[in-house]
Amino acid sequence: MSALKREGLDTTHGAILYLSDITVSFDGFRAINKLNLDISVGELRCIIGPNGAGKTTMMDVITGKTRPTSGTAFFGQNYDLATMTEYEIAHAGIGRKFQRPTVFEQHTVFENLELAMKMDKRVRPTLFARLTSEQEDKIASILRLIRLNGQEDRLAGLLSHGQKQWLEIGMLLMQEPQLILLDEPVAGMSDAETARTAELLNELRGKHSIMVVEHDMGFVTEIAQQGKVTVLHEGSVLAEGRMDQVQADERVIDVYLGR
Ligand SMILES: Nc1ncnc2c1ncn2[C@@H]1O[C@H](COP(=O)(O)OP(=O)(O)OP(=O)(O)O)[C@@H](O)[C@H]1O
Ligand SMILES: [Mg+2]
Repeated sequence: MSALKREGLDTTHGAILYLSDITVSFDGFRAINKLNLDISVGELRCIIGPNGAGKTTMMDVITGKTRPTSGTAFFGQNYDLATMTEYEIAHAGIGRKFQRPTVFEQHTVFENLELAMKMDKRVRPTLFARLTSEQEDKIASILRLIRLNGQEDRLAGLLSHGQKQWLEIGMLLMQEPQLILLDEPVAGMSDAETARTAELLNELRGKHSIMVVEHDMGFVTEIAQQGKVTVLHEGSVLAEGRMDQVQADERVIDVYLGR
């Protein structure tokens, strides 16, 4: 299941993502303003910050949905994201989950995972081929990871909101991305679902490089552990450090946590 290394991606310097001096202007308004941020291979990085800080726009830049006005963005040392299409970036190994789940509701849980695997751009199209035992094993292991084993024959449309979110994470994992971007994965989840999502992410730790944007500070504390948390504000990094450090930072309290 480890997708830390994929042929073609050069991470010899240890970073999987380098954003350098990125600015994104919308009609003169700087949604991202000289942003610098690096993510190491295998890191689980949490990004927090107030509404409008530029968190989603940053993910749009990483995935090629929005072009930076200036600055450089690299995936590993060799993929210059500014020169790639969204399709090429996904193919190179960056997977993104949007806030609203987009599973195939009229298909079963199993079929959703199967479809995700068969839509993997790296493999020859095999839509009508039978699954190999290796592929079946992979689906079974993802089903356990996303807590939907035993529910594989249910229609995805009948799942709870939280289960749909997990299924979508499972669909992302089928394509073995090296870098996973999750934008507010626990928004709208029950407390129990949020706790299970934290467990899920803790199980993925070290197997993929992961960037998680969240407003739920309890959840962020669960998954950040001793790792780095980045606070964005007005399109730039306001603070970066362990969760306890950023929570004690006066500037962070002023613009975000204290409100
Ligand atoms: N396509 C666009 N055109 C104009 N302004 C935009 C566009 N996309 C985002 N913005 C603006 O850029 C700023 C950053 O938005 P962004 O969605 O990145 O914030 P965010 O940190 O994700 O906020 P939230 O926590 O509410 O999701 C906001 O002021 C937003 O209105
Ligand atoms: Mg956002």
